[in-house]
Amino acid sequence: MPMIEMAQSTDVNTIRDLSIATFAETFASLNTEEDMEQYNERHFSTDELQREIDNPDSTFMVAKVDGVPAGYMKVNVGDAQTEEMLGNRMEVQRLYILRQYKRNGLGTRFMHTAFDMARAQGKSVIWLGVWEHNDAAIAFYKRMGFVQFGSHDFVLGNDRQTDLLMEAAVDRLV
Ligand SMILES: CC(C)(COP(=O)(O)OP(=O)(O)OC[C@H]1O[C@@H](n2cnc3c(N)ncnc32)[C@H](O)[C@@H]1OP(=O)(O)O)[C@@H](O)C(=O)NCCC(=O)NCCS
Repeated sequence: MPMIEMAQSTDVNTIRDLSIATFAETFASLNTEEDMEQYNERHFSTDELQREIDNPDSTFMVAKVDGVPAGYMKVNVGDAQTEEMLGNRMEVQRLYILRQYKRNGLGTRFMHTAFDMARAQGKSVIWLGVWEHNDAAIAFYKRMGFVQFGSHDFVLGNDRQTDLLMEAAVDRLV
């Protein structure tokens, strides 16, 4: 039975391994090796991830299948959000399932956990950014009730890309 656990400060290596592996699975075939390396160094260094895990406005969660890490999610509130947003919002900044565990409902379980957290904290909207060409993730988010409300730049190494901004009302998902 899959479990979703709140990551602790000591889980930085698990988060780092999952971050690098899932990001490569999702984007390596579409980007240069140099841009991918630059992204890993900048965003997935142990120091950077430790700082993010220890930020009280960010929460990392890990899904485990038979005790083995299978994916993770990072949510942000307050100033940890990657865009200036109102205080009643929560951002799902990262949601990544390892390839072999996809399409087994883990993404849905993570999303329900995010909605539960948002509701418990009195947030009314969940938002996220998703690469405009990431059709699978966009289909998943639409299925979860998200609709587009804007776009923003996302820099991968030296490449500036466009993310769609999507949002869903917290009371909408049941
Ligand atoms: C997007 C992602 C998080 C979805 O997680 P998941 O555990 O595979 O999703 P679920 O099994 O909960 O899927 C729920 C529903 O979403 C939709 N969905 C999920 N993946 C889909 C895909 N590849 N294509 C179309 N619809 C999809 C389906 O309706 C699915 O229901 P079904 O399997 O009964 O048809 C996962 O595919 C992933 O980690 N992708 C790579 C990383 C990524 O792109 N993350 C988002 C970055 S913004």
